[in-house]
Amino acid sequence: MSINVKQLAAEKAVEYVQDGMKVGLGTGSTAYWAIRKLGERVNEGLKITAVATSQASEDQARELGIPLVSFSEVDSLDLTIDGADELDGTLQLIKGGGGALLREKIVAMGSTRMIVVADESKAVTTLGKFPLPVEIVPFAWEWTVADLAKLGCKPELRRSGDELYKTDNGNYIADCRFEAIASAADLALSLQRIPGVVEHGLFIGIASMAIVGKSDGTIEIIEVDSGR
Ligand code: A5P
Repeated sequence: MSINVKQLAAEKAVEYVQDGMKVGLGTGSTAYWAIRKLGERVNEGLKITAVATSQASEDQARELGIPLVSFSEVDSLDLTIDGADELDGTLQLIKGGGGALLREKIVAMGSTRMIVVADESKAVTTLGKFPLPVEIVPFAWEWTVADLAKLGCKPELRRSGDELYKTDNGNYIADCRFEAIASAADLALSLQRIPGVVEHGLFIGIASMAIVGKSDGTIEIIEVDSGR
């Protein structure tokens, strides 16, 4: 039987959840396993409250009986567990493959701690092979895409069938193929200067731990001081 490495990493992360915590629920096929395990622990008596980073994760949590609260009821979170599309050795991340990057960043930044869960294919030396998702406003998107291209990438508006893909916030996603990002910090600054950019999928100095599941059944834990 082959090992589900996403499940392996996600379930390890759930061990860090303790009674009384306020937890951020990530989005994607790895975060799915963390939410599932959390649901099991809640049914066994774990007392937590949670907020979700997407409609899909909220629906899953509700179905499993995980108590959800609104953002007006909590001013910060203890821990967010979320996936990533790429992570490097210093825990700089690319996120947003599932389109939830804006909500994911708001929730992660509002958490004392973020644990990333991933399979080993996500661990890279240099970020950028995975096209960087950038959430942009629909207004004048053509100009925003042209500005993104000036940063040295090939931006492509994400589609969903025949339609342009829309995020939970009603925006578009431009997937920007850089191939290699020399300085994620410099690129983040350049992206923030483009008015039509709502948020980008570079997470820098946010995660303090990554749990990486490997096909041999082991896990690697990477810890950094995120400086937060
Ligand atoms: C969702 O918007 C993303 O940031 C996901 O966290 C990321 O794409 C990882 O997803 P998987 O765990 O499905 O690979």
